[in-house]
Amino acid sequence: MTKAWTKSDWRAKPRVQMPDYPDTYQLNQVEAQLNAFPPLVFAGEARRLKAQLAEAAAGRAFLLQGGDCAESFSEFSADNIRDTFKVMLQMAIVLTWGAKVPVVKVGRMAGQFAKPRSAAMETVAGVELPSYRGDIINGFDFTAEARIPDPQRMLQAYTQAAASLNLLRAFSTGGYADIHRVQSWISGFVEEPASARYKDIAHRIEDAMDFMAAAGVTSETAHELSTVDFYTSHEALLLEYEEALCRIDSTTGLPVAGSGHMIWIGDRTRQPDGAHVEFCRGVQNPIGLKCGPSTTAEDLKVLMAKLNPENEAGRLTLIARFGAGSVGDHLPRLVKAVKEEGANVLWSCDPMHGNTIKAASGYKTRPFESVLREVREFFGIHKAEGTIPGGVHFEMTGQDVTECTGGVRAVTDEGLSSRYHTACDPRLNASQSLELAFLVAEELMDRRKAQRLAAAS
Ligand code: PEP
Ligand code: CO
Repeated sequence: MTKAWTKSDWRAKPRVQMPDYPDTYQLNQVEAQLNAFPPLVFAGEARRLKAQLAEAAAGRAFLLQGGDCAESFSEFSADNIRDTFKVMLQMAIVLTWGAKVPVVKVGRMAGQFAKPRSAAMETVAGVELPSYRGDIINGFDFTAEARIPDPQRMLQAYTQAAASLNLLRAFSTGGYADIHRVQSWISGFVEEPASARYKDIAHRIEDAMDFMAAAGVTSETAHELSTVDFYTSHEALLLEYEEALCRIDSTTGLPVAGSGHMIWIGDRTRQPDGAHVEFCRGVQNPIGLKCGPSTTAEDLKVLMAKLNPENEAGRLTLIARFGAGSVGDHLPRLVKAVKEEGANVLWSCDPMHGNTIKAASGYKTRPFESVLREVREFFGIHKAEGTIPGGVHFEMTGQDVTECTGGVRAVTDEGLSSRYHTACDPRLNASQSLELAFLVAEELMDRRKAQRLAAAS
């Protein structure tokens, strides 16, 4: 018999993108503390999300995953969380309207603190220091001291995640997300025509609600109208933190990551024999796997077998991130590999990470036009292959930032500096997020048409 998986097995595997903590005594202390803390999420919630993702994989729901590239300690506030949550609700309304299926809402929130970096070192004005790796690991300031990995940061991340989740749970179920408030979610700085289109949908929903109220269906009689399910997710990069929050689910007796409902493996850490795959394969949560241009069909087959040996629906989400203009070069071979294996996967599109460029001004940015184009290409290829485009994955914020160029308001290269606040990658602002949701909604209307035709034939 093969030895049963344990949450520490990853330690024997090659690891990349993880810090070497200089103070191992402190590290062990922090790990022991986190081990004793309550988990942030519960196994039953992760199972419920998995069931909803299985619906998305089958085309009967749609996954909307979004939030910060990197959450930060300094930008942590109730207003920021509320604003991102609000934009996700708006996007979900637009998508539900188009697709006429439930939208599964998953935030890159309450745990998205650790970042893989393309270079281990950063050089500024001739000074070389270790790269910033996210607030859970080291500090953003360009000083030698800030860049030392500090295990105490894990405790602050846990506390921030717990407080964030507390707020998200309150927003989801405490009246804020009641569909009757659909008008109130629109942000003041969302531009025409997206805001006008949103308000039009909101009016129609309000009309439908008035009709339903007359028929006796209200938020009091149907709690589906007054609450939403909202889940959390992050990249499972810092495995000391993940291991310390791993728990045994009392219902099934199986291990579950207690750090967030869904965790994903990044494009830089998906080595089939590496530490990150080893950890993720053993927990019961839904798992995401980023698939970039270097993902081979062979690697994907091995990864699917490792991460989803029972071929369970909803367990594995493949998050394609190739870059506009390149989706056709890569997605078909992976779709073919999935077909050959008869694997159950949910296909999602991350149109952010393949489209990062450096603007002339020196800022890292993403042209909004490339983001839209990659989404269109993703839907186009699934249509041609007869497979299901089941979700999208974005970096966005409810704040009025200028980090990605383009959009209705046309953020220019020169305009990037005016409100560039991200701790890592450039995010869509509220206006761009809503515009994008309308594009995805149009693609989903098309998907719905195709599904109806297929059902009729
Ligand atoms: C991310 O999602 O922030 C990220 C780093 O993505 P990827 O692993 O796809 O590059
Ligand atoms: Co990112």
